[in-house]
Amino acid sequence: MNLKLLFLCLFLAALLIPAEMKRKKDKKHRLHDHGHGHHKHNKTKGRFKNIIEDIFFEIFDGAGEDDEDDDGSDWLLELQEPEGKCNPNPCLNNGECEQKNKRQFKCDCPKPFRGRKCEKGPKHCRRGRCGRGECVLTSTPPFYECKCKAPFQPPHCRTLSLCKPNPCRNGGTCIRDGNDFDCHCPPGYRGRFCHVGPNDCYVDDGESYRGNVSETDDGDECLYWNSHFILEKGADPFSSFEDKDGLGPHNFCRNPDGELMPWCFLRRGRKLFWDYCDVTQCPKPTGVTPTEIVSPDPKPTAPKPQTTATDSQPQMTTAPTVTEKPSQAPKPSSAPASVPPTPIGTAPPQQFSTCGKPQPKKTITRIFGGLKVAPGAIPWQVSVEVRPKNSKQTFRHVCGGVLIESCWVLTAGHCIEQSKDMQVSMGSLTLASEDLTEQTIRVEEAIVHENYRETPVAVYNDIALLRLSGTDGVCANETQFVKTACLPDAQLPDGKECTISGWGATEESQYGSNNLLMANVLLINQQKCSKPIVYGSVLDDTMFCAGYLQGGVDSCQGDSGGPLTCKLNSTDIIYGLVSWGDQCGRKNKPGVYTRVVHFVDWIKSKTGAASP
Ligand code: ARG
Repeated sequence: MNLKLLFLCLFLAALLIPAEMKRKKDKKHRLHDHGHGHHKHNKTKGRFKNIIEDIFFEIFDGAGEDDEDDDGSDWLLELQEPEGKCNPNPCLNNGECEQKNKRQFKCDCPKPFRGRKCEKGPKHCRRGRCGRGECVLTSTPPFYECKCKAPFQPPHCRTLSLCKPNPCRNGGTCIRDGNDFDCHCPPGYRGRFCHVGPNDCYVDDGESYRGNVSETDDGDECLYWNSHFILEKGADPFSSFEDKDGLGPHNFCRNPDGELMPWCFLRRGRKLFWDYCDVTQCPKPTGVTPTEIVSPDPKPTAPKPQTTATDSQPQMTTAPTVTEKPSQAPKPSSAPASVPPTPIGTAPPQQFSTCGKPQPKKTITRIFGGLKVAPGAIPWQVSVEVRPKNSKQTFRHVCGGVLIESCWVLTAGHCIEQSKDMQVSMGSLTLASEDLTEQTIRVEEAIVHENYRETPVAVYNDIALLRLSGTDGVCANETQFVKTACLPDAQLPDGKECTISGWGATEESQYGSNNLLMANVLLINQQKCSKPIVYGSVLDDTMFCAGYLQGGVDSCQGDSGGPLTCKLNSTDIIYGLVSWGDQCGRKNKPGVYTRVVHFVDWIKSKTGAASP
C-alpha cells in the first residue's frame, strides 16, 4: 500500500461509481426502477410484431447457451459464495456439494447436469425447438414442453392460428387484428387473455399472492419459473428461495424472496432480468375478510419441473396483518427528510430505541449465483453521496456509511470532501433506484477526526461523523429498512466472523454493484497482520485487518466508510469501517478497517455535544 494506491482507490471510486449509476436502467438484473402498481397502456398492440422480432429467438436462442452471463460472474459475487460452504447447498439440480477448503466447494452433478453448480442441464431446449415460444423443462419425457406465444400454436409453436381456438379466457371475445388478435374481456377481467380475475390482488408484500398476473409493470411477459433459460443462468427458483410454495410450472408473478411485491423473471436477449409485476394491491380491509383469489380459469397444470417444488393451488389467505407497508415509508427526496412535525416541548418520538437489530425473518436470498442482501437485513447501511457545491447535478455514490443515531452517520474520514454537497441515502438496497422505502437526507456537517492522517502507506484515524439535517433530533425515521447499529464497548476476539457490506467494486477496476452486497470476514490478529509479508509496521491501533490471508473475500473501492458489523448476543455491533487495503482480495493483503471501539469516546463527545 502506498499513497499512489490510495489515490488510485479514491480516483477509481470517484470515476467508476458514477459510471455505474449511469447504467441505471440495467440495474444489474432488475429492469427499470420506478414506482410500482401503475397500470400500463394497452399492451396487446404490437404483440405479434414483438414476438416475430424477438431477437433472442432469431439470434441468440441456444446459440450461446454455454456462454457465461457476462455480468453474472461478478468478482465479489463469486467471492461471496458463502465461503464455499455447502450449507445452504449451492449445487443446483440435486447436485452433491463437497467442501474443498474453507471457501471452496465442488458440485458432484447427477447426470446429465454439469457446470460449476450443476446449472447446465441437458439440451432438451435446443435452439428453435419451440419455434415462437418458450421452452420449459419438465421431469417426464421428453423433458421439455413448449409454451407458445399466442397466436402461435402447440405443440411446437410454429403454426399460427388467429382466434381458433379462442385464446381468450373467462368468456373473452377474440377479435382479429391483422396478424394479431385482441381479447375483449368481460367486465372485471383483464390481461392479454382476460386471465386476470376481478379479485386478483395481493396483500402486504404479496408473499401469499397466488393470482394469475403474468406480466411485468412494463408489459413484459414473465418467464415460466421452470424455464430452461432461468436454470441456465444459474438461478434455480425452486431451490434458492425461502418460500417456494407459490412457484410451479407457470409464469405467474410471485414473491418468494421477500421483495416488495410480486415479481417475475424476464428475458432480454441473452440476459436474465427480473421486474415487479403489473399486479394490484388488495383494498385495505373494511371489515370483510379480503381474499386473494385466483381467476376461475386456472391454467391447466403442466408436468412438474425437475425440482422439489409443488405447484400452487388456488389459495385463500388470511386477513392482511397490520404491518408497516414499505410504501408508507418516507418518499425519497434530496431535501431534508419529511418528518412528522414534533410538537414543541414534547420529547422526540420513541425512535431508534434499540440498535443492532436487523429486520427479523427475511433472510438472505441467493439469486443469480450471488448473495443479495435481503430487505432490512443491513438496515444501518448508508450510501454517502456527493455533488459539486451548490450545483444541480445528481448526487453520486462515493462511500458507504453507518447509521448510529437518527441524525448521525459514521463513515471513513477519507470519504469527506468538504468542497462538496453531501447527502446520505438509506433504506434501499439498490443505488440507482428511487425506492419508496428509501430515505435521503442532506448532510449538515461532516466532522472528520482531528487526527485523520494519510501517509504513503496507510490511513490513520480514518473516521468521520455526518450530522444529518432534521428537526428536534429526528432526521432518519426508523422503519423496517432503516435502523441503527450499536456502538461497541469492547474488543472482540481474533477469528470472529463479522459481516461487511457495500456497493463497491465487484472486480478490481470494475464498476461497483448496484445491489447491496455482503460477505462474511474474519477478524485477523493484529500481530499477524503486521508481519512484513502482510502490512508490516504501518498498522496502528486505530485500525485492524479482517478477511482471509489466503485472499478472496474482501471489501473494495466504493465500500469505504461502510460497516463491518459483528454479532454479540444477537445484536449487531459496528466494529469496523471499511478503510483501505492493497488492491482487493489479494493474498496477504486483507482489508483494513477503522477500529471503531477506539473512537467511541470521540463519537460520543461529538454526537452528545452538538444536538442537531
Ligand atoms: N479505499 C477504498 C474506498 O475508498 C476501500 C478499499 C478497501 N480495500 C480493501 N482491499 N478492503 O472505497
